[in-house]
Amino acid sequence: MGHEEVASSPLPQKDNPTLLFNNAGMNQFAKVFLGQEKRPYSRAVTSQKCMRVSGKHNDLTSVGPSPRHHTFFEMLGNFSFGDYFKKDAIQYAWEFLTEVMELDKSRLWVSVYTDDDEAEELWQAHIAPERILRFGKKENFWEMGDVGPCGPCSEIHYYLGDMADMKAEGVNVEDDYLEIWNLVFMQYEKAADGSLTPLPRPSIDTGMGLERITQVKQGFTNNYDTDLFTPAMDVVQELLRHSDEERKANYVGYRVIADHVRAATFVIADGVRPGNDGAEYVLRMVIRRAARFGRDMGFSQPFMAHVAGAYIQHMGEAYPELIAQMEHIKRTITQEEERFARTLDNALVQLERVLEETADKQIPGNVAFDLYATHGLPLEITRDLAEERGFTVDEAGYVVAKAEHALASGSGGVQGVRVGWQHLQPNRPRFNQRRQIASGRG
Ligand code: ALA
Repeated sequence: MGHEEVASSPLPQKDNPTLLFNNAGMNQFAKVFLGQEKRPYSRAVTSQKCMRVSGKHNDLTSVGPSPRHHTFFEMLGNFSFGDYFKKDAIQYAWEFLTEVMELDKSRLWVSVYTDDDEAEELWQAHIAPERILRFGKKENFWEMGDVGPCGPCSEIHYYLGDMADMKAEGVNVEDDYLEIWNLVFMQYEKAADGSLTPLPRPSIDTGMGLERITQVKQGFTNNYDTDLFTPAMDVVQELLRHSDEERKANYVGYRVIADHVRAATFVIADGVRPGNDGAEYVLRMVIRRAARFGRDMGFSQPFMAHVAGAYIQHMGEAYPELIAQMEHIKRTITQEEERFARTLDNALVQLERVLEETADKQIPGNVAFDLYATHGLPLEITRDLAEERGFTVDEAGYVVAKAEHALASGSGGVQGVRVGWQHLQPNRPRFNQRRQIASGRG
């Protein structure tokens, strides 16, 4: 159908201050949608490396408990830049799902934006009217971030459960209804003040998670059961000498490790190193979060390079950068695991002390920040551990403490923090002094 096959862009976003990583296939085309950039084609398809772990689209806390959420994932999409619009986008999606993928039509549902009569009418050419549902802004109006191209969308859902139980009320509510494809009718540019300006030419942006469509095609109800993840999870099981029952019982830890190591592998291959800010912090955080789950399951040595190896072997053909940087990826992950291992025991003791001293079940933001700055425990792990014990973290307070620390250290960012190296820096203020500086009392 004349679509240009365009390569995935790298994960880190270089020229977009509102986004650390690509979070959708359309990111590399944002300026084309806005009419600020021209391409020699008006239709494209991609398989885009994405990370949804910061900013507007952040699935981190769902990873583990959820059978279908990931930090890193591959998004398949077709795009039109002022070429075809709603009618063809709907028809292509229907043909692809029912004729190429041969999905069972009787399990498909679609949703349209609350006032999108046109999309509803177009869908009626393919699917019974009672299978077309309307939803509001949260489900059916897609925005890349707080600013940028956006528009109403139409989602296609696949029902995984018993046919006798299938019902319209389950869509967007129950786990048995899997959103497999989102068709965005790109029509507006959103400005910082929230106002919408029509785009020069209405366009199409679509996104289908490879992990989800693979799940449906391979007949599972869980992305992590597909062969996209099982080779890595088999490595974890082998290293832990777990029985199949033990693997099942520890499914949250297995999924977190499978997800986070895959994310780390791809992020490192795209040139990021673990650090204390931005994309570097996210990389550090996912490695440490996986390490914490690994420790709970019995790992006492760095293990993730083996897990990364499984991904490099299975995904290296599609992403040659993994093979080219295999040694660097493994070394970087192992070094970060070692660095974390040096502070983790102490961090957990400190956290325990904090929980004992916290009367109102909310860890103050500056204390959570100290746990990171002094003991190397990322906020996301503090949050996990706090939640396990019925506590929350004052995350707004954490952001304030981080900013104050940056100001006090004159770094202009949190780069001034040297996680886990305090003992090598005799001139650095001690824990309590730094807490005073961070809270403005010093
Ligand atoms: N950009 C749309 C999404 O990510 C397709 O869902």
